[in-house]
Amino acid sequence: MTATAFPTPTPSATLALDVERLREDFPILSERVRGKQLVYLDNAATSQKPRAVIDAVTRFYSAENANIHRGVHYLSERATIAYDAVRGRVARFINASSPAEIVFTRGTTEGINLVAQSYGRSTLRAGDEILITGMEHHSNIVPWQMVAAQTGATVRAVPITDAGELDLDAFDRLLTERTRILAVVQLSNALGSINPVRWLVARARERGVVTLVDGAQSAPHLPVDVQALGCDFFAFSGHKVFGPTGVGVLYGRSELLERMPPWQGGGDMIETVTLEGSTWALPPARFEAGTPMIAEVIGLGAALSYVETVGREAIGAWEEELLAYATERVGALNGVRLIGTAREKASVLSFVVDGVHPHDVGAVLDDEGVAIRAGHHCAQPVMQRFGVPATARASFAFYNTRDEVDTLVRGLRRVRTLFA
Ligand code: ALA
Repeated sequence: MTATAFPTPTPSATLALDVERLREDFPILSERVRGKQLVYLDNAATSQKPRAVIDAVTRFYSAENANIHRGVHYLSERATIAYDAVRGRVARFINASSPAEIVFTRGTTEGINLVAQSYGRSTLRAGDEILITGMEHHSNIVPWQMVAAQTGATVRAVPITDAGELDLDAFDRLLTERTRILAVVQLSNALGSINPVRWLVARARERGVVTLVDGAQSAPHLPVDVQALGCDFFAFSGHKVFGPTGVGVLYGRSELLERMPPWQGGGDMIETVTLEGSTWALPPARFEAGTPMIAEVIGLGAALSYVETVGREAIGAWEEELLAYATERVGALNGVRLIGTAREKASVLSFVVDGVHPHDVGAVLDDEGVAIRAGHHCAQPVMQRFGVPATARASFAFYNTRDEVDTLVRGLRRVRTLFA
């Protein structure tokens, strides 16, 4: 495999998606589960994989597998070229100014931990504040609590309104001369709210605050331009953008990455090693200790190519239509309450059914072949804010259809009948 294995995509000329044809690219979507046609509405947890990704990974292991940056032999050179080429593709996907700003990680969680333990741990002091929000996933809460405990810093959180929007007045009050880091999610996995990240980042940067955007949910659904957002760090996961599990991306602005110490030591991240001490490689290698997830990175490259070929604007337009349809139909059901009614939303519909635990909602839907997630979605503070132990959550991707929303609605009617 070479760099040319990732052809320059031709963006779709029109905003209309041929969803039925695109579904054929995803073998799993024609599976039956529990005797019913699968209706996969758990895309916020992980998305399904097109054949292009499955084939790229299979091809790598079948004909090209070798370790990278180490061998002088043919396969190693090819694997190295293929792995490094994906850095450029990722940089284009999020409009980073250079491939050197792209660090491969295991996923969003690891990217945020990397920033907390490298940038955060080396710069935070007692009395400093890290500002997060009340709608963060645990992966954008716990790493900050850990580094706060290590450094004496404090974590503060911007509250959210009843609609599931950030309270921007409170944000302005909480952004003070003590704030050092702002870490904020772009698209909430539990509520579907889209935050005004560009505005938040601009406010923070005016005060010299370093900013991290959790893009785990936004990268698959919204066009992402890190230079337009103005953020210092942006983290996302491969498996949510139709790529493999176990791989993710941390974008970091070069000036910051170059000043940051490594957070893990090992092979490939050093310049020199003696028994007395070591010096570090330049970023991004400095942050990629050990043999990386080579096949997964190559699969990620294939996934991003696929998404760009489908067309990100077309994906956004179809998903917006689908979410509006689902919101109207599910919201109209008796006894169903939507959790998260922000003005700007994408891809996620969280709800509770009166008198029925979300796990029971999930189980009845599963019986109908409909896969949703039920639980706290690794966002317990959101559940606490809305006074519920959990929600049922349908989350959409561009390959979902109106018919599938209708099947969800029929399943929810059955929930009401069974538990009435
Ligand atoms: N963070 C993923 C979700 O929201 C796993 O389901």
